[in-house]
Amino acid sequence: MIANVSGNGVAVGITGLGAYAPERVLTNADLERMVETSDEWIETRTGIRERRIADPDQAASDLALPAARQALEEAGVEPADLDLVIVATATPDMLFPATAAIVADELGAPKAAAYDLLAGCTGFVYALAQAYGSVTGGLCRKALVLGTETLSKITNWQDRSTCILFGDAAGAAVVEPVAGGGIAGFELGADGSGGPDLCVPAGGSRTPVTPEVLEQELQFIQMRGQEVFRFATRVMVSSAEELLAECGAGVGDVDVYVPHQANKRIIDHAVKNLGLDPQRVVMNIDRYGNTSSASIPLCLVDARERGLLEDGTRVLMSAVGAGLTWGSVYMTWTNGRAG
Ligand code: ACO
Repeated sequence: MIANVSGNGVAVGITGLGAYAPERVLTNADLERMVETSDEWIETRTGIRERRIADPDQAASDLALPAARQALEEAGVEPADLDLVIVATATPDMLFPATAAIVADELGAPKAAAYDLLAGCTGFVYALAQAYGSVTGGLCRKALVLGTETLSKITNWQDRSTCILFGDAAGAAVVEPVAGGGIAGFELGADGSGGPDLCVPAGGSRTPVTPEVLEQELQFIQMRGQEVFRFATRVMVSSAEELLAECGAGVGDVDVYVPHQANKRIIDHAVKNLGLDPQRVVMNIDRYGNTSSASIPLCLVDARERGLLEDGTRVLMSAVGAGLTWGSVYMTWTNGRAG
């Protein structure tokens, strides 16, 4: 799906951002004591130095709430005025009820429709598209989009090929009409044939959890790293190129590039092949690892703190994830909502 949405007459953008990461830090040195690996291997192959890990009693909604409150405060939006809460997550509190309903209740947003969205690491971009469509389509006026993950809970801490990659965090964005600029277009897609390359086999209707399933450790992330790597390097480039062309823009128009933080080598490949200026790239994978659907909003908060997001800044975001899915969004940053 590709759409240049800037001609539809309603400018919609992000008016508030928030992020939260648990306090516990797990460094590469800590991992050296858990599996056969080295700081040097992890750093050169992935760019990761440390990641955050949720406490045993912290679920996805617990990480989402502080991020949500921060975003709402920044936007000057009362929770009670929200019409929609979408939580992108691969690690919901439980299969149902939706984590979004739990978050909406905790926030005090009784009027909001609330549902979860599962698109792996692309979840935040997909959810942004859903919120955008709902606001421009007149279904709602104020939406809260969250990406929240406790991947540490579905990680096999004895599998060195996956346990070094992931971290826990949450990010939030308030989506509503803005005075001008805002979201210009989306490019979204999925290739389900690559699903087995990155999956958690157990816990759904195909493979309910049984003692035998637990013994085979099918409740944890299973990944064919090289296949995912090849897919990611290809679609991070093609998705961004197709979207920019659809929006009548070129790489020279991109002021800030916010890629999903899966692996520094994937990001470097995309930057080089797109011909982007490395100075314009936001990266925090060294501090957080791959936080899946939280990674893009976490980076947006970092970018804003570094003074990179100003009125008129043109931002390109791209992600790839389980599904396999991918998605990009191109937008002009605006400070302030529509009057
Ligand atoms: N420490 C030391 N050695 C390791 C480790 C480790 N942690 N992990 C694997 N190795 C070894 C392998 O066993 C292999 O050894 P061998 O040559 O003796 O067989 C060697 O290192 C090379 O392994 P590769 O898998 O070829 O390593 P590669 O360079 O491909 O890096 C990695 C692996 C980092 C997983 C990479 O493939 C990758 O980043 N893939 C993409 C993963 C990703 O982004 N997943 C998330 C997607 S988003 C989402 O929706 C969650």
